[in-house]
Amino acid sequence: MSRVLLIVGGGIAAYKACEIVRLLRKAGHGVRCVLTEGGSHFVTAMTLAALSEEEVHTTLWDLKDEAEMGHIQLSRQADLIVVAPATADLLARMAAGLANDLATTLLLATDKPVLAAPAMNVRMWLHPATQRNVSQLRADGITVMEPDEGAMACGEFGPGRLPEPTAIITRIELLLANGPGGSAPQALGTGHRPLVDKHILVTAGPTHEPIDPVRYIANRSSGKQGFAVAEALASLGARVSLVAGPVALATPAGVTRIDVETAREMAAAVDRALPADAAIMVAAVADWRAEGAAEQKLKKAAGGIPSLQLVENPDILATLGHSPNRPRLLVGFAAETEHVVTHARDKLARKGADWIIANDVSGDVMGGDTNTVHLVSAGGVETWEHMPKANVARRLADRIAATLQDPVQPG
Ligand code: C5P
Repeated sequence: MSRVLLIVGGGIAAYKACEIVRLLRKAGHGVRCVLTEGGSHFVTAMTLAALSEEEVHTTLWDLKDEAEMGHIQLSRQADLIVVAPATADLLARMAAGLANDLATTLLLATDKPVLAAPAMNVRMWLHPATQRNVSQLRADGITVMEPDEGAMACGEFGPGRLPEPTAIITRIELLLANGPGGSAPQALGTGHRPLVDKHILVTAGPTHEPIDPVRYIANRSSGKQGFAVAEALASLGARVSLVAGPVALATPAGVTRIDVETAREMAAAVDRALPADAAIMVAAVADWRAEGAAEQKLKKAAGGIPSLQLVENPDILATLGHSPNRPRLLVGFAAETEHVVTHARDKLARKGADWIIANDVSGDVMGGDTNTVHLVSAGGVETWEHMPKANVARRLADRIAATLQDPVQPG
């Protein structure tokens, strides 16, 4: 059993701290909570005390605490300090080395690893001051997670959402097992973690291309294969950024998910997530979008049937394949209904990828749980037997790990 000191900052995401406490307790860890003044406006000390089964600390000026347990002792008794949610203000005070409340005093006094899971408005996260503070904290040896991207409580969209509690727990387990570098081979689960220092970008799911505010062009992709790939890579220790189109799937543990809707949003999110050691583009990106989507709902009218003018979307894979930022290993997927391998060979060259995983989607592959794939590379074609998508993902993740460990360029 490890002991985690959880500092709960003042933001709407503070309610998710309750889930973090619950998951830590379920995993057999001891948790002590420190609630900041701001945090106490969002969750109560009573809730955290009930979940942690420990006293909750809120103030630096508690004579009883100072007599029985000084703030230095409180931080020293923990194996790891977790700040979640880490607000812009808390990050700024941490970076400046301030000690003007119990939380920051503990953070300044500690000699234990610290993990910060940020949550704030997108503009606050992207502000140069916050980015400067995050860089400073990372340089100081603090592990600052990337926030998730998506719709926010304030109504805006972008990076700034607290990472999923399951993702925070995965990082906690890694830090508890390995310390801030997180690079010892015996962490989490299997113990086989060959991708531990690698960042891998995965795209998954369909894209939705609006026709008007209520209609869109889509395809039958479920995202299952891409999510399975992200999960398999994370279980081998990789830091995974998963850019996901609209799908109804849970975020795999340990994966940073960025939700997008259109091909152009996906292209921008991919660009922002770089650099990466490898990119696995599983998404079924719409090739075309409606030119100039209508601002109001199209109406049935005397004018007759509206005509849709389509324009081409950016080819994210091909752009990456020919960019100076190209990851060392670039893998595309190709869903085909005929001449599967011939088309895949053609795509390999055209898109500048190292491998194309080609699959025949003429049956019920899209939305289903199994897949038959061919790995097409400059070296030839390998056909894998029919298997569950999770097994395709694991075999692919093993191949990626073997390739990234090999100092020679993939082929
Ligand atoms: O050309 P096709 O759509 O069959 O190619 C499939 C591969 O290219 C997939 O890896 C897919 O993610 C990627 N792709 C893309 N951007 C597009 C179209 C496809 O990245 N606009």
